[in-house]
Amino acid sequence: MNPISPPEPVQGLPARYFTDEHVHDRIKRSVFFRTWQFACHESRIPKKGDYFTLSLFDQDVYIVRDAEADLRAFYNVCQHRGHRLLEGQGNKKRISCPYHSWTYDLSGRLIGAPNSRSVPGFDASDICVPSIRLENFLGFIFINLDERCASMDECYPGVREEILGLCPDIESRRFAHEHNANEGCNWLTAVENYNECYHCKVAHAEFAKGIIDPDSYNIVPFGEGRVLRHSSLATRSSEAWYDMQGSNYGSFYLWPASSIQLYPGGVVNTYHWRPLSVDDVRVFRGWYSEDGKVDETLQRVIDLDRETTFSEDLELVRNVQRGLRSMGYRPGPLVVDPNGGIDSELSIAALHQWLRESIDRE
Ligand code: FES
Ligand SMILES: [Fe+2]
Repeated sequence: MNPISPPEPVQGLPARYFTDEHVHDRIKRSVFFRTWQFACHESRIPKKGDYFTLSLFDQDVYIVRDAEADLRAFYNVCQHRGHRLLEGQGNKKRISCPYHSWTYDLSGRLIGAPNSRSVPGFDASDICVPSIRLENFLGFIFINLDERCASMDECYPGVREEILGLCPDIESRRFAHEHNANEGCNWLTAVENYNECYHCKVAHAEFAKGIIDPDSYNIVPFGEGRVLRHSSLATRSSEAWYDMQGSNYGSFYLWPASSIQLYPGGVVNTYHWRPLSVDDVRVFRGWYSEDGKVDETLQRVIDLDRETTFSEDLELVRNVQRGLRSMGYRPGPLVVDPNGGIDSELSIAALHQWLRESIDRE
């Protein structure tokens, strides 16, 4: 499944994959509606009845902790005439639709519908909000709209073990902070940019000194799944962002739009993306700590990341999206270095291959 060293230069993907509405619609159905998407950290909904909503393209979803304290995901749509059931985040004992007050329990069963008793044959027990596949992966809640999709351990084999190797106590982390931004580019423009560090020395001088050691940095397909593993020793620079002890840097990008990152010393953070249109995507940057608080060190890392790497990438990807629409753009060859390393685009070749495998067979 993963690309091997090609005998000749690999050409970049034609621009239509990033700019064409029809391709974007195929990607929605064949990629995003069939793969695991990071929803939120379990610590954001710790109590029975806590819920969290999100949208994936035109599909609204809610995650809830039910009466048994189990995590469940549902389509966020009333089975009466289609109004959305929940907004934002909060806590409910039961879920009542704002339109005509049909009411559901936390497992999605209809338990009340005004005046329905006067309807001969109305059987509330037939009516349920449809559920969605959900997995709690080391504390990170993922959903999948494809009921027949393989489990996360089957889709991303070996990742759980690798993450635990770098951060054995990751399951005790709690959500501490999140910020997001619209990137003004196609989701793949953003995901490609995230998954290569060929631009790091040019564009991310602070990251290349503050967190990683560029000479040891590598991004390669990992295992048998659609996974890219970023790895590096911790920076040895005197300009390190914090006092780094213990483990090295590792990041696990899980196709198509989620990544769990471990900064040196076990600073846990995430990226995930939700496409908004063919040329816009929202990126979410999450941070986690042992007590769910942002201490002084974590605040410093969040601020430095946001002011440097995060905003530098926003500029780059907006600029690229405009270029992808240029009548003068002919995709160049990718710089796939057989020896890997920070300046190789093997990861981009892998992303292009996975996209083509997913949508070109249609
Ligand atoms: S649409 Fe929800 S109660 Fe009518
Ligand atoms: Fe970048």
